[in-house]
Amino acid sequence: MCGIVGYVGQRSVQEILLAGLEKLEYRGYDSAGISIQGESGLEVVRAVGNLAALKAAVAEQGAEGAVAVLAPPATAGIGHTRWATHGRVTEENAHPHYDPDNRVHVVVNGIVENYMELKNELQAQGAHFTSETDVEVIAHLIANDLDEHGLVEATRRTYNRLRGHYSFVVQSSEEPGVLVGARKETPMIVGRSETEQFLASGIPAFLEHTRTVQALEDDELVVLTADGARFMTADGAPIERETQEIDWDVDAAEKGGFETFMLKEIHEQADAVAETIADRTVRPDGVDLPELDDELLRGTKRIIIVACGTSYHAGLIGRYAIEEWARVPVEMDVASEYRYRNPVVGPGDVVIGITQSGESLDTLAAMRLARERGATVLAVTNIMGSQATRDAHATVYTRAGLEISVAATKTFVAQVAVMYLLALRLAELKGSLSAERRTELVTKLKRIPHDIDAMLEHGTAAIDRVAERHFDKDFFLYLGRHVGLPVGLEGALKLKEISYIATDAYAAGEMKHGPIALLDQDTPVVVVATDSPVLDKVISNMQEVRVRGAHVIAVASEGTDLTEHAEETLVVPPTDWMLQPLLAVIPLQLLAYRIARLRGLNVDQPRNLAKTVTVE
Ligand code: BG6
Repeated sequence: MCGIVGYVGQRSVQEILLAGLEKLEYRGYDSAGISIQGESGLEVVRAVGNLAALKAAVAEQGAEGAVAVLAPPATAGIGHTRWATHGRVTEENAHPHYDPDNRVHVVVNGIVENYMELKNELQAQGAHFTSETDVEVIAHLIANDLDEHGLVEATRRTYNRLRGHYSFVVQSSEEPGVLVGARKETPMIVGRSETEQFLASGIPAFLEHTRTVQALEDDELVVLTADGARFMTADGAPIERETQEIDWDVDAAEKGGFETFMLKEIHEQADAVAETIADRTVRPDGVDLPELDDELLRGTKRIIIVACGTSYHAGLIGRYAIEEWARVPVEMDVASEYRYRNPVVGPGDVVIGITQSGESLDTLAAMRLARERGATVLAVTNIMGSQATRDAHATVYTRAGLEISVAATKTFVAQVAVMYLLALRLAELKGSLSAERRTELVTKLKRIPHDIDAMLEHGTAAIDRVAERHFDKDFFLYLGRHVGLPVGLEGALKLKEISYIATDAYAAGEMKHGPIALLDQDTPVVVVATDSPVLDKVISNMQEVRVRGAHVIAVASEGTDLTEHAEETLVVPPTDWMLQPLLAVIPLQLLAYRIARLRGLNVDQPRNLAKTVTVE
């Protein structure tokens, strides 16, 4: 959840580090810092807040001559943006961290789980710590070994003493122009060129400089100098690592003309679905998922889905589709609950971890627990090479492209699409759906990208009206039935995440058992009322809401007139009722977006949230 960037080459490192961190800011932004190899050794600049604060600090210290921005430009350095886990959000806790003699600077993404024992050992030796963080121990440990072993070996020895989930980059005043990176279960990628090398937690940090990358795997280290990169295992054995060419265009990491990443990504949802289903729906009556073993799927007796946040809601929709089409029982649990409830799971079970980042610690832990107990573990993720792909027996990738906004949108619809593909594949292998019904569903699924584009082109007049009427409310209730319920849950989460308005989402049939007490004059109640076999039940719930003076906003299928039951209707194209979530969620994403913008909030970087939570 933090952003790391490192550079060694011929060019002035400050701009490269700051620009690189800007591209990673979505990973977390409580504080930021850079460390550069200036003429008088290592110089560090840190600031609380997002990158603008750091840039101001660099300019200010540069003006005082304290930082090498004015001296002959430094050509090696490391940088970091932080999402706090251990230690408050203070300048002292911002990375880079360093040893007392300022000889070793380190930036870290992740957590050192055994830091207390290491810190106690170091303090017993007289070490003085300047931060409350877990990761400062890394700088101390490396510095202690520096004179005897040199930077690379000192880093390798330190790496082997740490436990947890972390990647870090370190540099030393004793060995200018050398960076050492290490990876354990959180992302670290190397960018290569003839005369300069990069290290980062994500490709966007250096994509404008090079498209040639090398992945750093778990328990591996890399030594970077201006003219190259040398890989080794944590045991010190050299590794030959192939390079890959990245085909993302740089715009993929820019806003592409939209005012925010989130709006850009909402408008990329047609592509996200199209890409995700493209080569998997070639046959008219079936789905192909070559990543998954047919015999495994055919023999599946029970599926368990574990996920967090928005990904959990995608799993809920997947459950309806798998049970309805493939008649395979599906158990669901949020990963943070599953991992601690000593679940009954073992051989014969298929556990699916849905995680767009592939790095959510709770989901990874739930997947590992299932694997240890003999279950077959599948990952549904958006990030190549993420930890989830290493922990799973097989991975089905969503192809939503890079999602920068903290609030998930396009990765959600891509996840739902994967769940439909899986359910259809299972149904075909188990013979639980006729070829005719499969053909109907595959045909409608392939139309969804077109339906999404058509809907977005219709404009957002009704959504804007609802947002303008209710943006200052302090509570919204969301209702839905069947697959409409996870859509309501997701719509409610979106509003919470980016507008900070309290919301609740309930099965519409449950409203009379409690939530109806929350209704007051003009309380906004969003009802997912798209076509379905339970639509008449949903309509009666809408009537119950309206007689209490609440204000019903209905998501309705084109061609079904609900105007007499709702103050506003947000219309979506008709499709098979099981596929409706891919369409019904979009007006709710846009409603949350408009309300947050009317409240003047930072939609892409909501307070307290991070794009990926790799801590408990
Ligand atoms: C949260 C994100 O931290 O993690 C959500 O803010 C996301 O958007 C959730 O749904 C789960 O993340 P992932 O990467 O496991 O799908």
